[in-house]
Amino acid sequence: MITPKYHLFVCGGGKLMGDKKGLCCTRGGQDLARKLMDEIEDRELSGQVMLSVSSCFGVCDKGPVVAVYPEGVWYGNVSVGKVGELFDRHIEGGKPVESLMI
Ligand code: FES
Repeated sequence: MITPKYHLFVCGGGKLMGDKKGLCCTRGGQDLARKLMDEIEDRELSGQVMLSVSSCFGVCDKGPVVAVYPEGVWYGNVSVGKVGELFDRHIEGGKPVESLMI
């Protein structure tokens, strides 16, 4: 059984209870998911870091949203440009990026 050190969830939610504002997928969520996967591969973290696309977290106005477990840290307004910092500081550095936390 594979036991990753971190499990990342990126929101791929389309809508929450019919409310169409602030949807992660319309705010770059798909590009973000691709970038997260590329980052895992580029840093050779496959097996240590797992990525899943989730449904809506219910905080659409904060999207795109990424959650990092086992800590249960949620990040909001995560852009493709913030992925490197997220990996440097949290995934490889062990310290959450407070400026992105929601
Ligand atoms: S669509 Fe991402 S939090 Fe709702």
